[in-house]
Amino acid sequence: MRNTQLQIDYQICSFEELALADQKLVEAAKAACLTSYAPYSHFSVGAAAALDNGEIVCGSNQENAAYPSGTCAERCTVFYANARYPEAAVTTLAIAARTEDGSYTANPITPCGACRQVLLETEHRYGKAMRILLYGSHHTYVIASCSQLLPFQFSSDSCGW
Ligand code: THU
Repeated sequence: MRNTQLQIDYQICSFEELALADQKLVEAAKAACLTSYAPYSHFSVGAAAALDNGEIVCGSNQENAAYPSGTCAERCTVFYANARYPEAAVTTLAIAARTEDGSYTANPITPCGACRQVLLETEHRYGKAMRILLYGSHHTYVIASCSQLLPFQFSSDSCGW
């Protein structure tokens, strides 16, 4: 028996250090927080997806009194992008979150497990890396591929499909 480790790679930077196109996408994710429907958690999450056809698609968390029926901003955005432009790959997804007092979180929030699974399948579906920008007002994480977010992932490959 031996111990082993898995490492994930990501960058930490300030908003100003981002390329202009990434800054624009983060601003779109921040604005998308305002479209959130979060009467239960009072936690608004916004996401913006840049597609390889040049479009930007935004979404936000949508809650429901039957809690599991709601969905996170990431899944809302990626499913909407895929439904609207089924031929287009998501090249970058930016995520931001806003608390009840109207401020954006200082540290980035990271996607939940279910969203990671969906992001990963979207990446596989188009065969193109999906970059992830996780915004926090103090610092932003830049992740080159969403596969970094889900080590030991389950995918259709796992079943031989
Ligand atoms: N939420 C997201 O939309 N994305 C995340 O990455 C984490 C959590 C939502 C789900 C729920 O509406 C609220 O934030 C509190 O968990």
